[in-house]
Amino acid sequence: DLTAIDWNRPLDGKVAIVTGAARGIGATIAEVLARDGAHVICADVPQAGEALSATANLVHGTALALDVTAPDAAEKIATHLNERHGGTVDVLVHNAGITRDKTLANMDSARWNTVLNVNLLAPQQITESLVAAGALRAGSRVIDVSSIAGIAGNRGQTNYGTSKAGVIGLVQATAPALAEQEMTINAVAPGFIETAMTAAIPFATREAGRRMNSLLQGGQTVDVAETIAYFASPASNAVNGNIVRVCGQSLI
Ligand code: NAI
Repeated sequence: DLTAIDWNRPLDGKVAIVTGAARGIGATIAEVLARDGAHVICADVPQAGEALSATANLVHGTALALDVTAPDAAEKIATHLNERHGGTVDVLVHNAGITRDKTLANMDSARWNTVLNVNLLAPQQITESLVAAGALRAGSRVIDVSSIAGIAGNRGQTNYGTSKAGVIGLVQATAPALAEQEMTINAVAPGFIETAMTAAIPFATREAGRRMNSLLQGGQTVDVAETIAYFASPASNAVNGNIVRVCGQSLI
């Protein structure tokens, strides 16, 4: 019943988890979901330390030290949910992601594996485990973060582009199964967004990335976060298995 929803706080009473929430896009996702009324569990690697506590405090949420690639990552989340939230979660955002760029000639298997593990395998395994555990259940939303690099490719990013293309395949393949249990899974595919990740790119490549956006400048973290807030809200009840590009009117 949509009339029963307070559209100023469409996530009132909901519990959300955001991985990679210590900084960048993840920190803004936490802010926007909290503004919409959710209690946000902010997860990031233990080394994120004070940055993670700062996000959690800002959004009046909870900090959870969690490496998404740890074998017991899903179990840790499930335990946290059991202890504090009755064992369930309404919104799960797989935002944690890394780059390990190298030109093709210098790309090595360590870089491949690390990037695939964080960006693709961890979201898949955590989603699957939390569905099996009943933590994700009817009404829950799963939201993945792909990239324009997973649609158009990007020089020096065979590992990253492949992982983000994999996320698109994962979302599309998982959607029908989750729909059977009244859950949805969708993804955003951001273009160049101004964060620490893109600040680390060499100058010429960085400028080229900015110019891929028709606005000829990088996007902001809030552009991505608001699209995710839509996927989390009751407004997107019927939206499942979709990939939304967030990159201005991308030139690609
Ligand atoms: P960032 O590097 O600023 O932040 C990423 C966060 O993820 C960090 O706090 C980091 O500690 C955390 N993280 C990394 N590995 C982790 C692990 N194993 N377990 C838990 N947390 C981990 O990156 P940014 O720019 O905020 O990116 C966020 C997401 O958006 C990533 O998935 C990225 O691939 C994606 N993206 C970013 C774009 C951009 O232009 N910045 C464009 C397209 C996609």
